[in-house]
Amino acid sequence: MPLSQEAVMTALGSITLPGTDRSLVEAGCVRQVEVDGATVRVLLAVPTGNPADGDAVRADAVRVLEATEEVEKAIVEAKVLSPPPDSEAPAVGSQQAPAWADRLADIRHVIAVASGKGGVGKSTVAANLALGLARLGRGVGLLDADIYGPSQQIMLGGGQPMGDPSGKILPIKAVGGVKVMSLGMIIDADQPVIWRGPMLMKALEQFIGDVLWGELDDLVVDLPPGTGDVALTLCQNVPLAGAVIVTTPQDVALIDARKALLMFRKLGVPVLGLIENMAHFTCPSCGHVEHIFGSGGGLRTARELDIPFLGEIPIDSAIVAGGDSGRPIVVERPDSPASQAFQELARQVAEQLS
Ligand SMILES: Nc1ncnc2c1ncn2[C@@H]1O[C@H](COP(=O)(O)OP(=O)(O)OP(=O)(O)O)[C@@H](O)[C@H]1O
Ligand SMILES: [Mg+2]
Repeated sequence: MPLSQEAVMTALGSITLPGTDRSLVEAGCVRQVEVDGATVRVLLAVPTGNPADGDAVRADAVRVLEATEEVEKAIVEAKVLSPPPDSEAPAVGSQQAPAWADRLADIRHVIAVASGKGGVGKSTVAANLALGLARLGRGVGLLDADIYGPSQQIMLGGGQPMGDPSGKILPIKAVGGVKVMSLGMIIDADQPVIWRGPMLMKALEQFIGDVLWGELDDLVVDLPPGTGDVALTLCQNVPLAGAVIVTTPQDVALIDARKALLMFRKLGVPVLGLIENMAHFTCPSCGHVEHIFGSGGGLRTARELDIPFLGEIPIDSAIVAGGDSGRPIVVERPDSPASQAFQELARQVAEQLS
C-alpha cells in the first residue's frame, strides 16, 4: 500500500514535544511532509530553544517513521526555534516599544495593506502598489505576511530564496526591481500550513527578523484578511508608517472595511486611506460602464470615517492575468486605466509618507 500523509502524521503523533504533554502534531510542530514513493521528508519546528531537544525529536521521528511499514527512508529536519513568550501579546494600547523595530531599522516606511474581508484584492493592490512606488524611483520591498494563504510568490514571481552564511534569507529580486519575500516561497504550495497560536506569531517574527532587506524606502506588507492575530501582531511589533485599506463596493465589504479601520485606529496606526477595488467594468465593445457591485460606496465610507479616499480600481481581466503570470498590470500594461489608478494610489501614498 502506498505511504499516506495520514500514516506519517499518525507516526509523528506518537512523539511528545519535550517539556509539554502534547504530541508534535498537537503542538503544530509538523511544518512540511513530502512523500516520494517509500521516502518521506519531514520538516519539524521545535519551539523549545534547546538544540538537544531538536536532536532528540529528530532521532525519534526518524525511528518511528522508519518503523512504519511503508517507509524505507525518513529524512527529517528539526529546526529549533526560541520558545513562544509566556504571556499573551500585549493588550491593545499598552506602551510597549515595537519589538521588531531594530530589525527593520534600514526601512524608512512599513505600509500594511489590509482588508476586513477576504478576496477583495489586497494582494493585487499590495503588488501593484509596490510596483507603483518602485516606478516613482523608490527602493521597495514586499512582504507577504499572509501565512495562511501566501500569494506573492505567484503575483510577483517566485523562485527559491537563497540563504546567506549567517542563516538569514535574501529576498527575491522580482519584476520592477521590487524585493519580495513570501512564505509561499519556503513552504510547499500544496501543503496546508500548520502554524497555530503562539507558533504563528513566532513564525511571523522569525520571518520578519530573518530577511535581509537592505535599505528600503518602503516595505509593503500584504496581510491576511480580517482583523486577526497576524494583523494585530504586526501592528503591535512593527512601527507601521500607515495602513491602506482595500474594499470592494458591496455593503458587506464596506462594513468589514470599517472594522479594519477601527482596529488600526485603536492601535494608533495611521490610516493612509481607503481604496475601492473592482469598482466598475467598462464593456470593451461598447464602452458602457457598469457598476457591477454598486456605486460610490467606497467614497461615501471614506468620507463617513474621515479618511482619504485613494481612488477606484476598475475590474479588468488583465489584472487577473498579470497576477497569475508574475507580471502585474502596472508593469505589463502601464498605460491601462487600472494601472493608472494603481500609480495614482502609489503617488498619494508616497505623498502622505513624505
Ligand atoms: N480589479 C480587479 N479586476 C479583476 N480581477 C481582480 C481585481 N482585483 C483582484 N482581482 C482578482 O481577484 C482575485 C482575488 O484577488 P487577491 O488575491 O488580490 O485578493 P485578496 O484580498 O488578497 O485575497 P485573500 O483575502 O484570499 O488574501 C484574484 O484572482 C485577482 O486577480
Ligand atoms: Mg491575499
